Amino acid sequence: MKTSENYSLKNHNTFGIEISSRWFCSVTKITELQELLGDIRFKNMPKLILGGGSNILFTKDFNGLVIQNKIENIQLISENKDSILISVGGGMNWHAFVLNTIEHNYSGLENLSLIPGCVGAAPIQNIGAYGVEIKNTFHSLTAIHLEDGSLKTFDATACRFGYRDSIFKQEAKNKYAIVEVTFELKKNNVLNTSYGAIEEELKKMQVNHPTVKDVSNAVIAIRQSKLPDPKVIGNAGSFFKNPEVPLETYDRIKSENPALVGYPASGKMKLAAGWLIEQCGWKGKRIGNCGMHEKQALVLVNYGGATGKELLEHAKKVQESVEQKFGVYLEMEVNII
Ligand code: FAD
Ligand code: EPU
Repeated sequence: MKTSENYSLKNHNTFGIEISSRWFCSVTKITELQELLGDIRFKNMPKLILGGGSNILFTKDFNGLVIQNKIENIQLISENKDSILISVGGGMNWHAFVLNTIEHNYSGLENLSLIPGCVGAAPIQNIGAYGVEIKNTFHSLTAIHLEDGSLKTFDATACRFGYRDSIFKQEAKNKYAIVEVTFELKKNNVLNTSYGAIEEELKKMQVNHPTVKDVSNAVIAIRQSKLPDPKVIGNAGSFFKNPEVPLETYDRIKSENPALVGYPASGKMKLAAGWLIEQCGWKGKRIGNCGMHEKQALVLVNYGGATGKELLEHAKKVQESVEQKFGVYLEMEVNII
């Protein structure tokens, strides 16, 4: 296990920000991680677990130990005629895992194709796309406490999943390393194509009786048509969450802006933050090296060379202007370090 000092994280965050960590180490086994956590050199140091760095904005160097999770095993736990329980190492690439399940014709994760990052980070914000969240197929996870190296299992209730939320973004934030996640997937194709864009894409593909693979391909095509590829332009996906507002707030904005986009969500209305940001004139507008993407106003982008502080300042300006124009606060989705 090699530890590096003053290590550049430029290739470990999808914003492509040039910052460094005091210490860096990759772990490929649970026992390696426990050994590292027990190492006296790092005992009282701040620690950050990193997957693919696709939901992080670094605003300064990290004065502690960054641990890259590279635990990548896949294990079949049990199966019956309808479903399968499958356990995956937290360091495995998310999309590679999704493709693996699709090859075996298991359904449940196809709508979550092409989301960047690692399996271990997926429960943290209960990743979601095209009408599906991981809580729909989640069974349990194993995490290691960063203080004492002990193992703990969390079932779905213990994870307290919400919209882009879980206990790991609340009171358990930065306290655990998620080393393994177990999913329950279906063997017979139970597909969810209700999200409008998927139906349209399947029509374009001339598919009448979609398979799991077809739905995955449709999702991939939709995503590639509007989300910037971090290899080409730095970003971390949606920078803000879509705000959930009381019905009265929705009615007030809608009466002044009939084109407002919103959906009912557990007694409230979920507004399309991308629409609000676009109305404030930010879509495709570049200031220095920062901007909101030309095809998706919810995505903050680094045109190259922006610092984390500059990107955060840009995001705050966007946040303030939306609050001023619509009286709606946009909460940041991305983890700010
Ligand atoms: P990282 O960025 O490395 O980490 C994110 C946070 O989790 C950090 O706080 C980190 O400390 C912590 N963490 C990471 N791994 C672990 C672990 N094993 N144990 C404990 N803590 C850990 N998200 C969606 O929900 N839906 C989308 O459709 C979507 N689309 C995206 C599109 C693009 C182009 C991009 C760049 C991002 C998108 N995202 C989306 C956001 C992102 O891909 C997900 O949040 C993903 O799960 C982050 O994984 P990661 O491994 O890169 O996490
Ligand atoms: N819209 C605009 N202008 C824009 C962008 C969007 O008007 O510039 C409006 C459009 O009317 C569109 C609606 O917003 O119909 C919704 O847009 P889209 O379908 O692109 O989804 P989103 O709400 O912007 C959310 C997630 C994405 C996820 C997609 C697909 C959040 C914060 N974001 O985006 O997740 O992939 O739905 O399900 O919930 C992420 O979390 O990083 C992420 C990319």
